[in-house]
Amino acid sequence: MPIRLEAILQDQVDHPAVRDVLAVLADACAEISRLVRSAAVAGQLGAAGVVNVQQEDQKALDVLTDELLTARLMECSAVAALASEEQADAVCTDRTGGCLVAFDPLDGSSNVDVNVSVGTIFSLRPAPDGRPAHPEDFLGDGRAQLAAGYAVYGPQSMLVMSFDARVMAFSLDEDGAWVLTHPALAVPVGTKEFAINLSNRRHWRAPVISYIEDCLAGRDGPRGKDFNMRWVGSMVADVHRILMRGGVFLYPWDAREPDRPGKLRMLYEAHPMALLVERAGGRATDGVRPLLERVPPSLHARTAVVLGSADEVERVRDVG
Ligand code: AHG
Ligand code: MN
Ligand code: MN
Repeated sequence: MPIRLEAILQDQVDHPAVRDVLAVLADACAEISRLVRSAAVAGQLGAAGVVNVQQEDQKALDVLTDELLTARLMECSAVAALASEEQADAVCTDRTGGCLVAFDPLDGSSNVDVNVSVGTIFSLRPAPDGRPAHPEDFLGDGRAQLAAGYAVYGPQSMLVMSFDARVMAFSLDEDGAWVLTHPALAVPVGTKEFAINLSNRRHWRAPVISYIEDCLAGRDGPRGKDFNMRWVGSMVADVHRILMRGGVFLYPWDAREPDRPGKLRMLYEAHPMALLVERAGGRATDGVRPLLERVPPSLHARTAVVLGSADEVERVRDVG
């Protein structure tokens, strides 16, 4: 008898607000899965003609998924405030208690027009006690997260989440229900697979170049083994592969935008993925420090990201 997400939330999540918010997010991700699947037929692919707070051109689906998640979360009384990668400001309610929810509504959206996997990433934090939330309440370290997860809309739609020490994965069945398919993901400690956008090589710092050169040298080089490379260009898909079979993912600082510490956003991408990877036995750093120790200075703050198989992440030290 397949175990459904509702049963897991009911039986295993002690925190009522976390339980309610995860249920709302799971339903919203099932809706987004349908939206993505039917987007070509419904004429919802392509650009929205708007530049967002990240200075990135929004896709029509970036806007639709952001609106959908915002609407569903605002209807949930356990949500005190939300912050979206696509919105300049956090939306705070006058509710007290419950959760703060940060999300990237459509990760990898540049891939959606060419039918490559995209996803939704989310992170839950405790709301302050006894007063309504302020936007600054989101600015905590990664260990303060109560739960985190993502949905990946690929050949199968899957929902990966952690609300305790484990990382579980659910698959969307034909009837639109999330069914437990992977009770405890574990990232292998070693790997022979790396993920990085190699086209940026000339912009990297020397330690990143040297790490990748060593991998590329294969069995004749200092690592003494051949490496494989993968780069989907959707963080959800690249991290999902690593959670399933190991690997290392790098999005380091680079000289294209010297004042920016990296491309990926701490609250919406780095913190939730770091929580999942660490709880699955991997490591996640900004090249120097554990990502979960970092406190974002602002809602949309960026960071360098190195995550995946523990032994490999340990090698990529001091590259921040
Ligand atoms: P988003 O679509 O939410 O802006 O995120 C895109 C991110 C991430 O998913 C991916 O790892 C990275 O951008 C890819 O960047 P490059 O195009 O520079 O390779
Ligand atoms: Mn993203
Ligand atoms: Mn996005």
